[in-house]
Amino acid sequence: MSEPVFVMKKNELEAGKVRKFDLCGNAIAVYNLNGTFYATQDNCTHATASLSEGDIVDDECIACPVHDGTFHIPTGQPMSFPCEHAIRTYKVIDQGDAVMVDFDQEADEAADAI
Ligand code: FES
Repeated sequence: MSEPVFVMKKNELEAGKVRKFDLCGNAIAVYNLNGTFYATQDNCTHATASLSEGDIVDDECIACPVHDGTFHIPTGQPMSFPCEHAIRTYKVIDQGDAVMVDFDQEADEAADAI
C-alpha cells in the first residue's frame, strides 16, 4: 500500500475550480467544491477528453468539454448522456493546508455508493 502523495496547498485552487495534475503515472483532476477537495481520473470515459478542461456544474458535477456529458465528482458516477461509465475517484486526505491523494483508494463516497 502506497503513501498519500502531496498534490498542492489548498490555497492554490479556489472554490468552484478544477485543475489537472500528472502524478505517479496518473492524470488526475482535483476539484475544490466549496472548500472540500476531490480527485478523479482526468480522462473522460466516453472518448478522449481532459475533464479538467471542463466546467463544474450544479455545484458537484463536471461537464466534459468535448460532448458535454457530466459526472458526479464525489462518486464518479455518470450523470448525463453520452457518459455511461463511471470515472475513477481517489481518496483525498486533508492534512492541514495540504491536499494529499491516495492513489490506492477510492473516495469514501464512491465506496459507499457501490
Ligand atoms: S469525450 Fe467526454 S462526453 Fe464525450
